[in-house]
Amino acid sequence: MPAQSPSPTAFGLAADAASQAPIGIFDSGLGGLSVLRAVRAQLPEEALLYVADSLYAPYGERDDDFITDRTLAIGEWLAARGAKALVVACNTATAQSIAYVREKLPIPLVGVEPGVKPAALQSKSRVAGVLATQATLRSARFQGLLERYAADCRFLCQPGHGLVQAVERCDVGSAELRTLLHGYLEPMLDAGADTLVLGCTHYPFLDAAIRDIVGQRLALIDTSVAIARQLERVLEQHGLRAAAPAAAPLPRFYSTDDGRHQQQLAATLLQIDAAVEQVLIPSRRTAAADSRAA
Ligand code: DGL
Repeated sequence: MPAQSPSPTAFGLAADAASQAPIGIFDSGLGGLSVLRAVRAQLPEEALLYVADSLYAPYGERDDDFITDRTLAIGEWLAARGAKALVVACNTATAQSIAYVREKLPIPLVGVEPGVKPAALQSKSRVAGVLATQATLRSARFQGLLERYAADCRFLCQPGHGLVQAVERCDVGSAELRTLLHGYLEPMLDAGADTLVLGCTHYPFLDAAIRDIVGQRLALIDTSVAIARQLERVLEQHGLRAAAPAAAPLPRFYSTDDGRHQQQLAATLLQIDAAVEQVLIPSRRTAAADSRAA
């Protein structure tokens, strides 16, 4: 569904300045880089600001209030830096907090959700696996998705404990990671699944390791291209598409940790060589820890 938030032009920015403003993209950590990759391919003329909240990742094992607190703080931080729209490139943050955060921010928001609908449309065996974080799987939003599409398709929902942590360490293929994946995927294959929903934006970086285990027996559903198209529609609706610059701008990367792994993953998997700036983004739930660190 298109975002319903007001556009920055409604808040007095000149239309030209607003459309040349950057898009903010945020994730608990490095997973949103899989969304950034799709956004760059779809909208190469847009300037992008990417925040990884790696100091507090993984969100999937946090409580709901913590996830909402961080999503709002980072959304406000990006809006204060002039972002004209925000992509919440995190299934967990979207599931727990997008409705609340959308009400609070003065810019349009685009969220992500596990591709349950495309899986239900394309599964021939009518059995599909879903790998997502525990927080996504327990959310009312995800349960609503299942209710809508699980009438004639069985979904095997598996929390991907340990997978986000692996990607955060830039581990996309170690023996330890493969053992974890094996444990999650083998029961799905045994139950006759022919489709696997990658319900966390970190997981597309594990596609080669997953393919090594499942071969062509599972179709992988990654929604990042659909998110980029949705973002394009939202920008168009709000008159916020940037004019093409002479050269495609490099994204600006920010991290709440030292950013070393972000720089490494962006360089190796996205071929983007850009520095990562470490930033402090205080929020109600992390204020005490941040003041100790300062
Ligand atoms: N990339 C996030 C998602 O899509 C990972 C959440 C986490 O940090 O556990 O859910």
